[in-house]
Amino acid sequence: MPNALEVSHVSKRFRSHRQGAGYSTLKSLFLGKGRRQSAPPESYHQALTDVSLVVPKGEVHGVIGRNGSGKTTLLKLITGIYRPDEGSIRYEGRLASLIELGAGFHPDFTGRENALINGMVLGMTKREILDRMDTIIAYAEIEEFIDEPVRTYSTGMYMRLAFAIAVHVDPDVLLLDEILSVGDEQFARKCAHEIDRFRANGTTILIVSHDLEAVKRYCSHVIHLEGGRVRNEGSAADVVEAYRAQFAE
Ligand SMILES: Nc1ncnc2c1ncn2[C@@H]1O[C@H](COP(=O)(O)OP(=O)(O)OP(=O)(O)O)[C@@H](O)[C@H]1O
Ligand SMILES: [Mg+2]
Repeated sequence: MPNALEVSHVSKRFRSHRQGAGYSTLKSLFLGKGRRQSAPPESYHQALTDVSLVVPKGEVHGVIGRNGSGKTTLLKLITGIYRPDEGSIRYEGRLASLIELGAGFHPDFTGRENALINGMVLGMTKREILDRMDTIIAYAEIEEFIDEPVRTYSTGMYMRLAFAIAVHVDPDVLLLDEILSVGDEQFARKCAHEIDRFRANGTTILIVSHDLEAVKRYCSHVIHLEGGRVRNEGSAADVVEAYRAQFAE
């Protein structure tokens, strides 16, 4: 397969977590009026509809779109955290993903324990990770906190550790969700350097970000999601400019 990653006609819906009480307004809740007689029909939120993309080996592609447009859901489907309702996903080799706070790490385990678990999930042996543990910790620059539970970490510290693990796992396909905008200046520079290195080594990367300048800098091809559908796709410059023009109107 010439493509490192293929997403074909993927759809995903979530059951809405609407309360069963069925009060139509806040006021009616307090007054005890307006309660619906029957339970509301089960409702769904269609997070993604018929989304397809291919990333050829060694390319860096981007996904942009407004809050709630389905970007993280797409990455979670690729990672296997969710299963698609329709469509299929294929990738070649070892896949590592850095997706929002909470995904992948156990909050009560320490940074060191999470590094071990996470590394094994990503396909390394225990020996391999233990051998690289000091390098990973030094890279993350969180030595002081490595034996504290990760629930005490700041967002940036959390991302540093996740990124350090991914960097040392040497994935074939790397998914990055908002990593470019959570860190401080120094971490952003480190990420930029690593992304260049990954690219030079032929790693295939899919980047989700609201940092449109970074998307233009890193990505050759960009997909714009809107309401869970592909609204536009093409060269990074074209898609980013069209997206911006939409808000300038
Ligand atoms: N586990 C879930 N259960 C129910 N609804 C969900 C779930 N995960 C996501 N959604 C819904 O799916 C839609 C897409 O969410 P998603 O997190 O993919 O958006 P996003 O594009 O990553 O947004 P952002 O830019 O804010 O990160 C949203 O309406 C969200 O409420
Ligand atoms: Mg998101």
